[in-house]
Amino acid sequence: MLTDRIQDAINRQINNELYSAHLYLSMSAYFEALDLNGFAHWMRLQFEEETAHAMKLFDYVNDRDGRVVLHAIDQPPIEFESPHSVMRSALEHERLITSMINDLYALAVAERDYPSHVLLEWFVSEQVEEEKALNEIVAHMDLIGNDGTGLLIMDQRLGDRTADADAEAGEGEA
Ligand SMILES: [Fe+2]
Ligand SMILES: [Fe+2]
Repeated sequence: MLTDRIQDAINRQINNELYSAHLYLSMSAYFEALDLNGFAHWMRLQFEEETAHAMKLFDYVNDRDGRVVLHAIDQPPIEFESPHSVMRSALEHERLITSMINDLYALAVAERDYPSHVLLEWFVSEQVEEEKALNEIVAHMDLIGNDGTGLLIMDQRLGDRTADADAEAGEGEA
């Protein structure tokens, strides 16, 4: 049985993950419109991952005999300044999500809810991977600057991203 505080907090996090999915899908659409299909593909996989995160929490609430409560999902940004600014926003967003996961983890500790603890450990590690992948992409894009050829090489590498593992959230090498 979940305490009300934990249940409410996890329900909020389900929405945060669904918003993340929404945000990345919008970013994918932006890249599609620019014909940067590798970036679009990377963001689409990111959308799928975030949906999976939401469902992991959804299943957990149900497994603990709790009640999932869904909230409205905000509209994500539609237009962006540049491919570079999209990836920077994505990194900023992941940092925000990390702080939310950390808060949730702290709550589980405070409430001595050990099963939630164990579940959230996975999310804590996942956030390390999420930030690492985006940090690397942003660093590479900083190096590229306004070079169109560099952008196309990057597009190709991001297009190689595969769907399966969380650890594979980086660029093409996965
Ligand atoms: Fe997530
Ligand atoms: Fe994420």
